[in-house]
Amino acid sequence: MKAAPLIHCLIASAFAGLFLPPHAAGGSIREHLSLDTSWKFHLGDDWPDALHLENAGTGAGPASERFDDTFWRAVNLPHDWAVELPFDWAADGSHGFKTLGLKYPGNSIGWYRRTFDLPKEDEGKRIWLTFDGIFRDATVWVNGWCMSHHEGGYYPFREDITDVLHYGGTNTIAVRVDATKVEGWFYEGAGIYRHVWLDKTSPVAVAPDGIFISPRFPNNIPSDKANVVIETTVQNSSEVPADATVSQEILGPDGALIARAGQQMGIQGHSSSEAATSLTVSNPVLWSPESPRLYQLVTIIAVGGNVVDQKTTPFGIRTVGFDPEQGFLLNGRHYELYGTCNHQDHAGVGAAIPDALQEFRVKKLKEFGCNAIRTSHNPPTPELLDVCDRLGMLVMDESRLMGSDSENMRKWDGQIRRDRNHPSVAIWNIANEQFMVQDTPQAANVARTMQAYVKQLDPTRPVTYASPEGDVFQGINSVIEVRGWNYHYGADMDSYHAEHPEQPNVGTEQASVVGTRGIYENDRQHGYVAAYDVVWPGWNTTAESWWSFFAVRPWLSGAFVWTGFDYRGEPTPYWWPCVNSHFGILDTCGFPKDVYYYYKSWWTTDTVLHLLPHWNWPGKEGQEILVEAFSNCTQVELFLNGTSLSKHAMKPNSKLSWQVKYASGTLSAKGYDAVGKVIAETKVETTGDPAQIELIPDRRTINADGEDVAVFTVAALDAKGRVVPVAGNKINFSIEGAGKIIGVGNGDPSCHEPDTYIPTVPMRKIGVDKWRWRLANMPKNKRVLPEYAAGFDDSAWTELDAAPGIGADSIKTENTTAIYRAHFTLTEDDLKGAGVQACFSGCDDEGWYFVNGQFVGESHDWEAQPAFNIKNAVHAGDNIIAGGVYNGPSTGGLNPNVSVNVIGHASVPPWSRSLFNGLAQIIVQSTNDAGEIKLTATADGLASGTSAVQSQPCTPRPAVP
Ligand code: GAL
Repeated sequence: MKAAPLIHCLIASAFAGLFLPPHAAGGSIREHLSLDTSWKFHLGDDWPDALHLENAGTGAGPASERFDDTFWRAVNLPHDWAVELPFDWAADGSHGFKTLGLKYPGNSIGWYRRTFDLPKEDEGKRIWLTFDGIFRDATVWVNGWCMSHHEGGYYPFREDITDVLHYGGTNTIAVRVDATKVEGWFYEGAGIYRHVWLDKTSPVAVAPDGIFISPRFPNNIPSDKANVVIETTVQNSSEVPADATVSQEILGPDGALIARAGQQMGIQGHSSSEAATSLTVSNPVLWSPESPRLYQLVTIIAVGGNVVDQKTTPFGIRTVGFDPEQGFLLNGRHYELYGTCNHQDHAGVGAAIPDALQEFRVKKLKEFGCNAIRTSHNPPTPELLDVCDRLGMLVMDESRLMGSDSENMRKWDGQIRRDRNHPSVAIWNIANEQFMVQDTPQAANVARTMQAYVKQLDPTRPVTYASPEGDVFQGINSVIEVRGWNYHYGADMDSYHAEHPEQPNVGTEQASVVGTRGIYENDRQHGYVAAYDVVWPGWNTTAESWWSFFAVRPWLSGAFVWTGFDYRGEPTPYWWPCVNSHFGILDTCGFPKDVYYYYKSWWTTDTVLHLLPHWNWPGKEGQEILVEAFSNCTQVELFLNGTSLSKHAMKPNSKLSWQVKYASGTLSAKGYDAVGKVIAETKVETTGDPAQIELIPDRRTINADGEDVAVFTVAALDAKGRVVPVAGNKINFSIEGAGKIIGVGNGDPSCHEPDTYIPTVPMRKIGVDKWRWRLANMPKNKRVLPEYAAGFDDSAWTELDAAPGIGADSIKTENTTAIYRAHFTLTEDDLKGAGVQACFSGCDDEGWYFVNGQFVGESHDWEAQPAFNIKNAVHAGDNIIAGGVYNGPSTGGLNPNVSVNVIGHASVPPWSRSLFNGLAQIIVQSTNDAGEIKLTATADGLASGTSAVQSQPCTPRPAVP
């Protein structure tokens, strides 16, 4: 995999003379541009023949540059169309019952198109197109050239598109996405659900993912000097050799210059060279989840004294390791992993998670003490790693599929190179639960190969496998560096550890306890599970059981709970109407379930005291209700309406339970410390009926960059301002100002209301099937002819009936032209819509099209199915559509099934969502305009709620206009 490099190991200080100021004269500097906005989207595989393999640059239908997408829906990325689809009981439940997949071909293929202009001055640069992730199989065309076929929904792919671009002209990207096939057993989304980038560099530049920074210390224990090893791959895409200077500077967390190095390298044309150097950082500020301080490496490449590239790479200084006895080590010390596994799925938006929502999610996890995420079961979105670096969250970086074949190793290589500079990434995971093969010698071989490859690209991080086995030392378990434990907590772990004292361990996946937020009785009919920490499916266990076991065995390193957030699909232990998982400590919106407070009690040093259930049980007066307290206080005393019901000592890693005869009022608790002092108090009260709506944004100010989001909590309050924990009111939303709503949710695992409301566009289709034609003896592309004019008398021409077909053998001689004419009628109302489009099913071989004598478009591909915007050429009443068709070889003519589509104005249905147990969530995104964004919520019988956030001017990230 690794290109044979020319290694230049030079001592930094000897090159002090090589430094150049940033942006020195001449040469071009890298541009990293977002390509997320202004895409057009169409759902449906209406152009199955788009992929032409017989000739280069001949993509048909939307793949062609000439295709007219005026009436496709405008979307910005990230975009997940699966979340927009309805639910159906017959659909795949493991993926959330969305109408996607083999049974729903019309919903499973989507097209995206985008155009962009390139200035003439970009000629000579290298231009790269990068997709961070598309679900799932993608075919990409640039200017009609098929550039990539990419299979797999979780890996980035990148193409150097320099050769096929129009400099000083308009360029077209078309992407056909096929989400029919699944990869996982959980919701996976559909579409371009991660960012897209356009990178411009000079021909001599740092190669993509071409920098690896690894801070090292003797014995992997931080001391007062960090040895920062830097490997840099420089690419020369020009035809001539280049003598390049590589200058590198390390800036400290405060921005101060700390160290610098420089070296020279000769690079042949069309090749790359690798330079290695190491810099010393004295008294390094160590990175940790508690103190996520970042350094920066600035790399400057110069050729002939001109700076041609400059790239800044953030990194952290820290060490990670696993020890058989001490467990996970961060910066040389035992560090307990309070981890959660998470899929990439959030209420309202599905897999298309804006960066600000990634941050929101990481903050939610940190609130209850989570310090590590396992990106189950796939490589993460890079922006999630950026957030983890910045906010302090360790990451187990997982591959999607294990395999040592060239395709899987190419993906593994890309994942490691892309992610290895992130200090948050602490360990690589080769795979999850490979039941069929895991004990075989072949799987052991594959694991060895993948593990050895990690050591080549990243010698600093350990490798694990999420093994669903107990005390089994065979196959993968026998060769993997760190033994991963999916479940099987207990005796198996102790005996395995005793038998294999040389192998470190980590709890890759534990718990899988199920519970629905705010529900305290199992309800199969509605698909709800009581949120007491109780076991349900056979393989899972309570939070209290697994954590009590791990907490006293540091050699296990801690573990990753299945899961931090609920996600769509896997509605264990039920099936329809339940469409979501229940495993989360947080629901799909990030609202805490009760078990959140169990983990917070034992994973943080905050004083925690939490009571469950709520206290709204009309009709249950006098009946016993199970009351629990999650707390880390030394003792907890429970009261009902002021009367003490008993005081108990809290065992470490435990909880307390009471059976309480229900009487409405106030259930309260006091928490005491070791000397009997009250250190915490809490209460749950019987509330009144919902009276008003409250809206609270997670932040009061967001950036006016068209990307940032504010996450509003919607709550129903009673007349005294208390959240009504059983409220299910339907809430309607409206928004004013510089923002738009992008999704709504409520955490109800059985809710079938829309998560997002997309514009609907009315369309009237007028079949054009009565044609007259005659052969014409004229140059093939003649654009001005009396025969195209509205008033031309074609009564003597031959009549064609559309059925069974106009075209195939109309023109029987080669190199011959013909003219076709037909009428269609429009009303005054038709002209008030968004547009009128003429759609052709093609012609053999080339066509020039006219409406009322006005040229509207042309096609040069006999398989293309062109569509043209004809609004400016039509009028109310009778209209004439005409085509001049040129037949090259064989027979030809205009194909049947021509239509005129009258497109209405798009309208978005009003946004609404029911509360679930008192709460809902609404996600609001900024536009590029600064100003106030005002959200209003109304519901029958409730006082409405209003809240505003300010969208502040900012420098948006550099983007392709
Ligand atoms: C595990 C699996 C997870 C999830 C979980 C549910 O075995 O790795 O992806 O399915 O079970 O409990």
